[in-house]
Amino acid sequence: MKNYTKIKDIINLPETIKDAILLKMNPFEFQDLGKHKTLVMLFFNSSLRTRLSTEKAAKNLGMEVMILNINDAWNLEFEDGTIMNMDKSEHIKEAAQVISQYADIIAVRAFPTLQDKAKDESEYILNNLKKHATVPIVNMESATAHPLQALADAITITELTEKAKPKVVLSWAPHPKALPQAVANSFIEMIQNMDVDLTITHPEGYELSEAITKNTPINYNQEEALKDADFVYTKNWSSYNNYGKVLSQDNSWMVTKAKLGHAKFMHCLPVRRNVVVEDTVLDSDQSVVIQQANNRTYAAQIVLKQILEDL
Ligand code: CP
Repeated sequence: MKNYTKIKDIINLPETIKDAILLKMNPFEFQDLGKHKTLVMLFFNSSLRTRLSTEKAAKNLGMEVMILNINDAWNLEFEDGTIMNMDKSEHIKEAAQVISQYADIIAVRAFPTLQDKAKDESEYILNNLKKHATVPIVNMESATAHPLQALADAITITELTEKAKPKVVLSWAPHPKALPQAVANSFIEMIQNMDVDLTITHPEGYELSEAITKNTPINYNQEEALKDADFVYTKNWSSYNNYGKVLSQDNSWMVTKAKLGHAKFMHCLPVRRNVVVEDTVLDSDQSVVIQQANNRTYAAQIVLKQILEDL
């Protein structure tokens, strides 16, 4: 693997999932692979799981890890040809090349503005870093994608499914803040590559990009969509067409024990209790959110392993 910035960078998904599950059983098997290799992790935004699981994954492979919260560094310029006489002190051109000298792999988290759709869709931070860096890049959630989360989700469904072709429903849920579409986008793209019956449900106005949803069925009736589901993946996202706007906080979309039926409950976390999902779901055996978070380590580890093998 050369980079992991999007789902399509996975060369063989079934094999990658199988190898991640094997790594989980024997996490230190490839301790020498990352010896004298360094992962630099750049954070433009907050993180709990991604930060800790990716660091753990790198250390399981014997790598050194350096973490930089970008707020602690110089304010970066991304535009070409700018006269840098305002608040930006360093251009990504120099920064990316300099960091590449300290790193064998760079991982980056950079959320969208949710104000400027064109800028967000250009993935200007991720792609400028990739353009000017001289080492592989791993996406730890960008403006439009969260491929490490989606790989952990695919591992979790593979581990837990009791059916050859489970029914998986991605359900929008309310949230007081405007959130990115990244998790939903990558989950859909990942599941479209698996032997899974996927349905998306959300209120009207929350349609995701058609470039992502393609032919996946969308049902505006949540109760109907959730019927006979094996896995219910719940996530809030802000409007894509009315970009970045919160159009509804309708709490009738919150996932309840009654709506869940016999399905397993999935969420990437962090989750707002009794807004997105009620306590009785999260505190029940049907919730697999902790297992999902654990699988973030093995998703990151299989990605780093495949990149290290290709250096
Ligand atoms: N799911 C996820 O990416 O969690 P963090 O934002 O805490 O990293």
